[in-house]
Amino acid sequence: MASESLHSPNSRSSSRIPNFFKMSISERISELHRRGLLTSDDVHQLVSRDHQLDAPVADKMIENVLGVFGLPLGVALNFLINNRDYVIPLVVEEPSIVAGLSGAARIARLGGGFFSDPVDTVLIGQVQSVVDGDASKKAELLLTEKLEILSLANSLHPKMVARGGGAIDIEVFHHKAEEDGREMVVMHLLVDTRDAMGANMVNTMCEGVAGLVEKITDGKVFLRILSNLTDRAIARTKVRIPVANLEGKGFTGESVRNGIVLANDLALADPYRAATHNKGIMNGIDAFAIATGNDWRAIEASAHAYASRSGRYKALTKWHKKEDGFLTGEIEIPIKVGTVGGSLETNPSVKINHRLLGSPGAAELAGLMSAVGLAQNFAALRSLATSGISQNHMNLHARSVASSAGVSEEHFETVVERLIESGEIKVWKAQEIAKDIARKIVRPDSADRESASGKIILLGEHAAVYGRPAIALPIPLAVEASVRKRSSVSNKGIDVIIPRWGVEQKVVPEAPGIPGIMAQLIHNLELSKEAMTIEVFPNVPKAMGLGGSSALAVAIIKALNKTYELALKDAEINALAYKCEQAAHGQASGVDNTVATYGVPLFYQKERDDPHFETLTLGQPLELVIGITGKESLTAEMVARVRASWNQHKGRYESIFDQIGSLTNQAKDAVQSGQLSELGELMNLCHGYLNALQLSTPEIEELIHLARINGAVGAKLSGGGGGGSIVALCPDSANQVARAIEKAGYKSISVKVDE
Ligand code: MEV
Repeated sequence: MASESLHSPNSRSSSRIPNFFKMSISERISELHRRGLLTSDDVHQLVSRDHQLDAPVADKMIENVLGVFGLPLGVALNFLINNRDYVIPLVVEEPSIVAGLSGAARIARLGGGFFSDPVDTVLIGQVQSVVDGDASKKAELLLTEKLEILSLANSLHPKMVARGGGAIDIEVFHHKAEEDGREMVVMHLLVDTRDAMGANMVNTMCEGVAGLVEKITDGKVFLRILSNLTDRAIARTKVRIPVANLEGKGFTGESVRNGIVLANDLALADPYRAATHNKGIMNGIDAFAIATGNDWRAIEASAHAYASRSGRYKALTKWHKKEDGFLTGEIEIPIKVGTVGGSLETNPSVKINHRLLGSPGAAELAGLMSAVGLAQNFAALRSLATSGISQNHMNLHARSVASSAGVSEEHFETVVERLIESGEIKVWKAQEIAKDIARKIVRPDSADRESASGKIILLGEHAAVYGRPAIALPIPLAVEASVRKRSSVSNKGIDVIIPRWGVEQKVVPEAPGIPGIMAQLIHNLELSKEAMTIEVFPNVPKAMGLGGSSALAVAIIKALNKTYELALKDAEINALAYKCEQAAHGQASGVDNTVATYGVPLFYQKERDDPHFETLTLGQPLELVIGITGKESLTAEMVARVRASWNQHKGRYESIFDQIGSLTNQAKDAVQSGQLSELGELMNLCHGYLNALQLSTPEIEELIHLARINGAVGAKLSGGGGGGSIVALCPDSANQVARAIEKAGYKSISVKVDE
C-alpha cells in the first residue's frame, strides 16, 4: 500500500524511542510502524527482505554484475532539527556510528536540537576553452553573451525551468596551462537543479553550450563537466548545548566543553588532525548519503576540497565556549544531493528511507545531513575529551569477541560488559561467562526471589476454545519477583519496579494496568497498609503468547507469601492468579495461571464449560526453541476471526477442530512415551491446520522454515497467532535453531522441559 498516508511533516512522531537498541529487528520495525514512520508496505518489504536491490536490477545499473553486496541499515534516533523530529536512516559497516549519533542527538535535543539554514540547490558546470591571445579579454566576452548562453542551456532542459530551476548565471576564470603555458578560459555555468542531484543535467548543458563558448572565445573547448566542489550548495547547522548536559563518566560539564573546544582547535591548526576530524564528520554524512541513494564520493570530494579553501586543510566545524555556560558548535559544508531520480527509482530501501524522513526535498535533506555531520563530530570529540576512543574500541572488540564465541542475543550485552570488566577479552572467556549466565538462568538470581513459569502451547490452540484438548508446557523462571518490607515511617506505600520494562510506580487502586491489578491483589491479601517494594524481573517478552502476565502475578503472589508468611497453598495462589488474569484479559481459560503456579506440563480440556487439567508425565525431556516474531500476538482478534468463520461454516470448521483435537490426543501419547519424531510430525501437521485457519503471518512462516531447515523435528505457531511466537521441537538441534533464528534478527528462548 504505497499510498498509505504517513505522518505529515509537521506532525512527526517523536524520534525518542526508549530501549530501541534492546529490541529485536522485527520489534524495531513494528515500533516505527506503530509511530506512523513506516507504512505497512514498508514493514512488509523489510520483514520479507524484499527491500533489497534485486540482482537483475543491479545488472542494469553497472557492468559485469555478479550479485548484490549487503551492508547494515540502521537508524539514529533523537534528532530534533529545526524543531522537527527525524529518525535518520544510515547504511554503514562501522560499529558505534549509529549509537554515537543517537547519543549526541539526545544531548542536543535537551538544549533545543539542531538548527540548519536553508541550502541552495545550485550545481556548477565547467566549460574549458583553450585560446590563443589574451584569455582575460576572451573571458569578458563570455560575460557579455551571458543571456544567450543561459537561454541555450535552458532550452536543453525546459522541464527544469518549468520547475523553477535551470541555468541561472555564469562566471568566468582564466588560467595558464602548467605543461605548455597555453591560455585557458573556464566558464562556470550555475544551474539550480532543484530536487535532482543534477549531474547529468549539468553535463548535458555544458556539452550543449560548448559550441557557443568556442565561437565566443574563438578557442577550442576540451572539458565540459560539472564541478564536484559544490560551494553554491553550502549547508550550515548550529547547535547549543548547556554545559550541565555534558557532565558524565566522572567529568564535569566544563571540562568536557573545554576538551571539545581544544580538540576542534587542533583540527583547525593541524591538517593531520583535521583529516581524522573530518573523517568522523563524514562517517555520519556518508552513511546517510548511501541510505538516501546519494553519491557519497561526490559529497566526500566536495567536503575535503572545501576544507582546503583557505589554502590549508582545516576542520569543517567550529566549537566555542560561551560565557553563559553553553557549548556551541557549527558546521559549514557543501552538500549537493538529490531526492528524485537515480537509485531512488531503483533501490526499494532508498524509497523506504526517504519515507522514513517524511520525504524531504533536496534542500531540506542537505540541511539534515549537515546536522548529522555536526552530531557525529560532537560524539567523537566528546568521547575523545572524556573516556577516549579506545574505551569504545574496547567495547567494539568485546562485541566482536562475544559474537565469535556464539553468545546468544539474549545474553550478549551482559557478556560484553563482563568481558570488559574482566580485562580478558578472549573467546574462551566469553564462552565461560555465557555458560555461567546460562547456569544461573535455571535458578533464581537471588535467594530472595520467587519465580513462576510462563507457558507455551504445544498443540491444540484455538480448537481448545471449541471443547477440544490442548497441551501446555512450562517455561521455567519466566518471571522472578521479590518483595522487600520497608519502614512505613520513612517511605509509605507500595512501589513496584520492573527495571526491564522501565516501570517504577506506586501501587494504587485506580492505577491502570499492572499496578492497578496488583493493588486489588494486595487488597485481597489484606496487605494494603504495608510499606513495601516489589521488584519484578521478567525473562520473557510481553504480549508474545508466553503467559507472561500470569507468571508475573504468580511470582509476585509467591514473593508476598514468603515475605509476609501468609502460608498460601498452591491452589490458593492459582486461584488468586486466575483473578488477576481475569482482571487483565477478561475471559481466561485458566491454563496460563495453572502452568505458572505448578510449572508442570498440562493436558487441558473444557467439558461443558468445566475446565479439566491433567498433569502429563514426559517419556523424554523436551528440548524446545521458542522463536519470537516481535509482533504482538493478536489472540483476541484471531479468536474472533475464527469464530466469525465458524459461524458461517460450522461443519467445515468443526472438522478442522476435530483434526486438531485428534492430533493433540496423539501428541499426548507421544509426549508420554517420549516418541519425539512422532510428536514433531504431529506439530507440523497441526501447523498446517492453524494455517488453514489463517492464523499465520510471514514472520511466523519464516521462523518455522528456519527451525525446520536447521534440524527441528517439528515446528508450529503457538498460541493466538497473528504475531506472537512459534515453538520448535529440537532434540539435537536447539543451539543451531536458536542461532539461525537470532541471525535472522528475531529473539529466541531455549527451554528444556524435564520431569
Ligand atoms: C573514527 O571512525 C572517527 C574518529 O576518529 C573521528 C575523530 O577522531 O574525530 C573517532
